[in-house]
Amino acid sequence: MARKTFPFSVPNRTPLYLAPMAGISESPFRRLCHQHGADVVVTEFLSAEGIRRENQATISKLRFAAEERPIGVQIFGADPKAMADAAAMVTDLFAPDFVDINFGCPVKKVVRRNGGSGCLKDMDLVEDIIRSVSRATPLPVTVKTRSGWNEEMRDPVGIALRMQDAGARVFALHARTRTQMYSGSANWDEIAMVAQALDIPVLGNGDIKTPQDAKRMLDHTGADGIMIGRGSYGQPWIFRQARALFDGQPMPDTPPVAERFAVALEHARMVQAYEVDAVGAALEFRKHLGWYVKGLPNSADLRARLHQVRDFAEVERIFTEYLAFYDDYVARGVPSRDPDVSDLTCEAA
Ligand SMILES: Cc1cc2nc3c(=O)[nH]c(=O)nc-3n(C[C@H](O)[C@H](O)[C@H](O)COP(=O)(O)O)c2cc1C
Repeated sequence: MARKTFPFSVPNRTPLYLAPMAGISESPFRRLCHQHGADVVVTEFLSAEGIRRENQATISKLRFAAEERPIGVQIFGADPKAMADAAAMVTDLFAPDFVDINFGCPVKKVVRRNGGSGCLKDMDLVEDIIRSVSRATPLPVTVKTRSGWNEEMRDPVGIALRMQDAGARVFALHARTRTQMYSGSANWDEIAMVAQALDIPVLGNGDIKTPQDAKRMLDHTGADGIMIGRGSYGQPWIFRQARALFDGQPMPDTPPVAERFAVALEHARMVQAYEVDAVGAALEFRKHLGWYVKGLPNSADLRARLHQVRDFAEVERIFTEYLAFYDDYVARGVPSRDPDVSDLTCEAA
């Protein structure tokens, strides 16, 4: 089958996307993932009403840097007019590379007002939203969705075809239903069926934890691009590793501990420079720290210390101390190599 083309310029034939994730895929992490091989990034979902009413918290999340391109701004809402207004504003004020519509969010607060995956109960409304957003912006409009509202209404191919007919230019599937939330596993067969059925590029998403998983999903589904969410936590280099596997090249090693900490500190510095509230930013960053040290010897203790940090200087101090411990640990001959993030068993030294 002829390869489908993306409606904006992508640096690789089979682009690797950083998934939109509220509280995670913010500007610093998006830039970091780009540096480590992500081809396309998407903002976290932003309320169309919030954008339209110029809610400052929402508007501030629309900021992005030139090096984040190609970037999509993701919007959600159940009112076609509000969605169209939001898309027009985003286009005029921020000019991202595409506008993405969230039809997948399972969170109650969003679904209750028929936003996110709530729309999947009313496919006429979904079509209306895509059509009015497409009319309101010259940018490509893309969609991200789940396989259906519940098992009974599970119909990824039917949903995908209707979204394509309404004007979606790229279709991303997190192959779970809304009622599944994050339980069970994503059904990669459904991604394969959709990739086969659509004329527009299809992105596969769900349960990629390692670069090998990304390659397996690509081979299994024939998707046109791959989207990684939680698998990027604490290991943004997963994109570069996956790219090497896609290209049939040897996979770059997972960075050794000192390098991993350097990436974490670089991430922290980017956050510090970006956020106005320094203490709030440090508290919010604790979750990333926990992910960066996952699987290291004595990581439970290290995590406990990092979970109490109130500023970034403290992080640097804790890392320096840990590296001294780690060098000693290695000198005693315990691990023969740096532990990999997938080696999650070694909790105590
Ligand atoms: C913390 C968190 C926040 C998320 N926020 C969004 C969001 O704002 N928009 C969206 O479309 N999906 C969101 N998702 C769903 C992810 O984009 C992705 O579809 C899902 O996590 C499955 O992919 P994964 O297994 O690679 O993580 C979120 C997921 C998580 C874990």
